[in-house]
Amino acid sequence: MAFEVGLIGAGAVAGVHAEILAHDSRVRIVSAFDPMADRAESMADRYGARAAKSVEELLEHSQAVFICTPNRTHVDLACQALAAGKPVFCEKPFALDLEGARKVRDAARAAGVVFQLGHNRRFAPVYKVLKQAIDDGRLEPLSVHAKMNRGELLNPPWVGDGKVTGGFLYETPVHMFDLMRFFFGDVAWVEVAARAHQNNELDDFSILLGFTSGLQATMKTFAHASWHFPFERFEAYGRHSTYETFEMERISFTEGLETETTTLDFGLRPRDHKWGYVEEDTLFVDALEGKGDPPVTAEDGYRVVELIEGCYASARTEKRLALRSWQAAD
Ligand SMILES: NC(=O)c1ccc[n+]([C@@H]2O[C@H](COP(=O)([O-])OP(=O)(O)OC[C@H]3O[C@@H](n4cnc5c(N)ncnc54)[C@H](O)[C@@H]3O)[C@@H](O)[C@H]2O)c1
Repeated sequence: MAFEVGLIGAGAVAGVHAEILAHDSRVRIVSAFDPMADRAESMADRYGARAAKSVEELLEHSQAVFICTPNRTHVDLACQALAAGKPVFCEKPFALDLEGARKVRDAARAAGVVFQLGHNRRFAPVYKVLKQAIDDGRLEPLSVHAKMNRGELLNPPWVGDGKVTGGFLYETPVHMFDLMRFFFGDVAWVEVAARAHQNNELDDFSILLGFTSGLQATMKTFAHASWHFPFERFEAYGRHSTYETFEMERISFTEGLETETTTLDFGLRPRDHKWGYVEEDTLFVDALEGKGDPPVTAEDGYRVVELIEGCYASARTEKRLALRSWQAAD
């Protein structure tokens, strides 16, 4: 029997998940809800599902849900679905402040059902290569530099509205914060300088992260840079070794002083694979089947919100701040 899945939100990213799920025989898309009814109807028509008139109606007919709505709505929708006992795949960001993050984390714990957060980049082949090198001990990161620019805050139309996104760091840069934890472990302190260039919203950040391991990383993120390639990049340096990523297209690495540089190029793979969407959705369905735990948890979501809130607080106070205690760090 296929799992009956409902899509809450029928915009761009819902279309990505729907297309992947439609190719997984373990799943059937049964319902879609969107306040823009024509979107719900066309999504429902495409996959032989019903267009629901409300979230409640969708929950009634679904065994699990994908939350694919604008950022501001995630906390309430996730809590509503979890309260109904439904397994949830929730797009990033997890929440837009610590209070919201606590609510969803508590709701996920109380519901005891599968909850997975949409940090797809963990499953991009480029980032899997980097993670594997760290796990295998081929790269012991001693220093890290990263950037995550956006081309614009124009599309979708709500993406430039801090009241909907929660602020620029909760948009695309949220992925980098998840990856920082995924690769390098827990962050102990942050020190941030930031400026606003549009709509009075901070959109240009210079971030210094101190990890509990002692590792330090810098990260630069700017919202209006154009989509100049590569707008997203990690550089991780070990002793006489460098790993460098070029968006989710390529990774180059040199492991030694007088040796060759290897480049792995994933450019020809379909976008849904090279951006990690196919694997994250497959792992969610695996978890529904009881074959493994969801790979990005509510606890991960909470920690990323904590990190972002730390960055905003540090930018505001112009101080290096210890996470957790929120005190000025030594
Ligand atoms: N993981 C990724 O790579 C990735 C990529 C794109 C978007 N996202 C995230 O996915 C979410 C959706 O982004 P998008 O690009 O699909 O936006 P979108 O604007 O294309 O689609 C969002 C849809 O949600 C609908 N909606 C609004 N409020 C709703 C509600 N209460 N209930 C049901 N539907 C509602 C809107 O009408 C719209 O059709 C955002 O949080 C975004 O940050 C993640």
